[in-house]
Order: sequence, then C-alpha cells, then structure tokens
Amino acid sequence: MNRYQYVDAATTPLRDGTIKLHGPEGFEGMRKAGRLAAEILDALAPVVVPGITTGQIDDIVRRMTLDAGAVPATLGYRGYAHSCCTSINNVICHGIPGDRVLKDGDIINIDVTLLKDGWHGDTSRMYLVGDVPLKARRLVEVTYECLMIGVEMARPGVTLGDIGHAIQRHAESHRYGVVRDFCGHGLGRLFHDAPEVVHLGTPGTGVELREGMFFTIEPMINLGKPAVKMMDDGWTAVTRDRSLSAQFEHSLGITADGCEIFTTSPKGLHKPPY
Ligand code: MF3
Ligand code: CO
Ligand code: CO
Repeated sequence: MNRYQYVDAATTPLRDGTIKLHGPEGFEGMRKAGRLAAEILDALAPVVVPGITTGQIDDIVRRMTLDAGAVPATLGYRGYAHSCCTSINNVICHGIPGDRVLKDGDIINIDVTLLKDGWHGDTSRMYLVGDVPLKARRLVEVTYECLMIGVEMARPGVTLGDIGHAIQRHAESHRYGVVRDFCGHGLGRLFHDAPEVVHLGTPGTGVELREGMFFTIEPMINLGKPAVKMMDDGWTAVTRDRSLSAQFEHSLGITADGCEIFTTSPKGLHKPPY
C-alpha cells in the first residue's frame, strides 16, 4: 500500500520565503478573489452606521464570502475565529468582531481576506460612523493618500524602500506616526508570504520589484506616536498613546509597466464618505 501523499509541484505553494513571480493564471485568479473582497467592502458601506455591532458586520462578511463560493481566509488562521477584522478608533489592526456597538463619531477599519479558487484577496477600508470630527476625517484621508502613493509608484525597477519612504514622508509631513510593527506582505496561493512590505524606509534599498510579484500595501497611520500595544486577547493591536489610527489596504500585482490593483472598489467606494 502507498503510504505517501503526493502534491502537484506546479500548484502547491512553497513556504520557503522565496518571492514568487506569477503569470497570467495567477493574475486571473487574483482578479477574481480581489474583486469579491472589494465587493464585500462595497456592500458594507450602507450598513456601517451607529447601532450595528462588529459581530453583525462579521456575519455579513462570512455569509457573502461563502455565498460566492469562497472561504474567509482569517477563519481558523492561527486560531483566529472570525471572517474579518474590525478595528475601531485607537485599534490599529486585528480588532476582533463581537458585541461592540458602533457609535456616532467612531472610525472603523474593516479588513477582509478571502480564499477563492486557491487565490487570496486581501483588502481593507475605513468607514466613518455618523458624524466624525474633522481631525479624524483628515487622518483617514491622508492614510488613503499614503496607500495610493505607494500603489502608484509600484512598477518594475522600483524598490520596496522607495515605496516605504514615500509613504513615510507623506504621513510624517502631517506629523502622523507610521506603525512599524505590522506590514504588508506577499500573497497569492498563500495568505502571508515574502516579501515584507514595510511602510517606511530608505530610497534605493530593499527588494526590487519585478513583473509577476503579488503583494499588499496596507499602511497603518496614527494620529499620535507609532508605538503599538498588544491587548491580552493576543490579537488586538492598539496605539500605546491611545491616539486614533487608520488603515487602507490593496492587493496588487506588478505588470510590465506598472501594477494592477486586484481590490479596486467596483462601485467606486474608494474612501469615505461613501
Ligand atoms: N487581513 C490582515 C492582513 O492584512 C490579516 C488578518 S489575520 C487575522 O494581513 F487573523 F487577524 F485575521
Ligand atoms: Co494584508
Ligand atoms: Co488585510
């Protein structure tokens, strides 16, 4: 009897730290996964209002993901038991959905990662709950600009240091703090893969981008200092100085002369107000 398990070398992801270069099949898979993740964020725009709980948001994300024949990639990931992350106000990332009720003036990041036909779509946006003070709205706006500055630079020959530097420069010109402890990441058949995409850096340093690379850019920008504190649940990351934090995330692939964003909002709901 054959005791061995065999895998297809062409389709089985290697967790070996190598940076994968993908062809048309990968782009096609990422396009579908990314689009679905973006559609889910679009659908949340009208429901993120005062009175809804983060658990209800998670239920919507899970149902839409499964109904579309995909699986929430976060469900069961290192023991995480939810279909998205919901990070409110001073929460930087990985806020856990639950009984928390959204209230007027909150800002919230919703981060969806799903697996569709073997490919990962990972994207997040900020939502404004009711009437949000100008200071918070400005933070959200500049954080979106930080993401898009990085995305628009992404093409062969540019380095991750170039991108990190440009993001840092923009955030710090507003005297905001760039979070160091979490970064973007390669993705594709794997959820978190090489390279690490740090949102600060030195021009001309780090990985040089090549056609076929897939990764996220997902800057976390604080109204105050960059320092992070972890909560006892082991997931929730908050600003040490309790200041507000914002984040946006796209998944993208490097093309011959630029990049393709896999997670663009089909409805044009790129940033609030929606
Ligand atoms: N979606 C997050 C990212 O952008 C990761 C969430 S992992 C979880 O990489 F387990 F916290 F959901
Ligand atoms: Co990500
Ligand atoms: Co994400």
